[in-house]
Amino acid sequence: MLDHAGTAIRIRPTGAALGADVEGVDLATLSDAEFAVIRQAWLDHLVLRFRDQTIDDHAHVALGRRFGELDFNPGTRLTGKVYVEGIPEIVKISNIIENGKPVGELGAGEADWHSDMCFIDTPPSASLLRSLEIPTDGGGDTSWINMEAAYAALPDDLKQAVEGRSIKHDAVYVSSGKQRPGTVAPESGDIRDIAGAVHPIVRTHPVTGRRSLYLGKRFNAYVMGMEVAESEKLLDALWDHVMSGDFRWTQHWRVGDLMIWDNRCTMHQRGAFDPSMRRLLHRVVVKGEKPA
Ligand code: SIN
Repeated sequence: MLDHAGTAIRIRPTGAALGADVEGVDLATLSDAEFAVIRQAWLDHLVLRFRDQTIDDHAHVALGRRFGELDFNPGTRLTGKVYVEGIPEIVKISNIIENGKPVGELGAGEADWHSDMCFIDTPPSASLLRSLEIPTDGGGDTSWINMEAAYAALPDDLKQAVEGRSIKHDAVYVSSGKQRPGTVAPESGDIRDIAGAVHPIVRTHPVTGRRSLYLGKRFNAYVMGMEVAESEKLLDALWDHVMSGDFRWTQHWRVGDLMIWDNRCTMHQRGAFDPSMRRLLHRVVVKGEKPA
């Protein structure tokens, strides 16, 4: 069946607020025509799932590079830590401990909602996450939220409240409150003094022109120019709106899945899983532009 630009690719939307399955393609031998179809589907559906893929780390990096120049994950940026010898663009996301040391990041607890690396000046445009080991009991699903749909559904009072406003995204602490290695904590303990990138709360997608909310992560976020209590109140209202609406889709992982998402207009979250089960995924991120 020839569906898209003379390729055999089939795009099957999830039927939820975002996400589509891409079928009929082997990511190890992607043609330029196939990549063009995939890139357009990524812009249209925000999250893409490819099942039963067998690519290695080199092919994973090569696929990421078709979207643009790759960036390094925060650990590698700040401390030079490399997870895969010779391929510093790959970060391992895992709960596995080997020789008393974690092989990757995040562990087994529930990860909070976030957009990847919101705390740097140019957060990634795309993230590509590939599963190598997955708990056999079904835990550790990952969900995404369509932040364009969330923005479009914002009540008028909140739309007015966020217009022209910016958030400072904490670069020092992760959502659990743990300090990132290689960062400096403010002596004052005041949220306003924590280092981090400042981005507009409503950003415009540089390719599609669509507007979306850009909340980054909740922990230690601060709306610039407001009293802290006022900032907290606005952020709580925005997060309540985003969490209570019908804006999400959940991926139930299988080994060999590769997910590509548009990190500019989505947030994601991984659920907790049985820590005695092994979970291992490899991720690369593509350099983005300054949100505007
Ligand atoms: C992430 O938050 O980037 C990782 C998601 C996952 O482990 O499924």
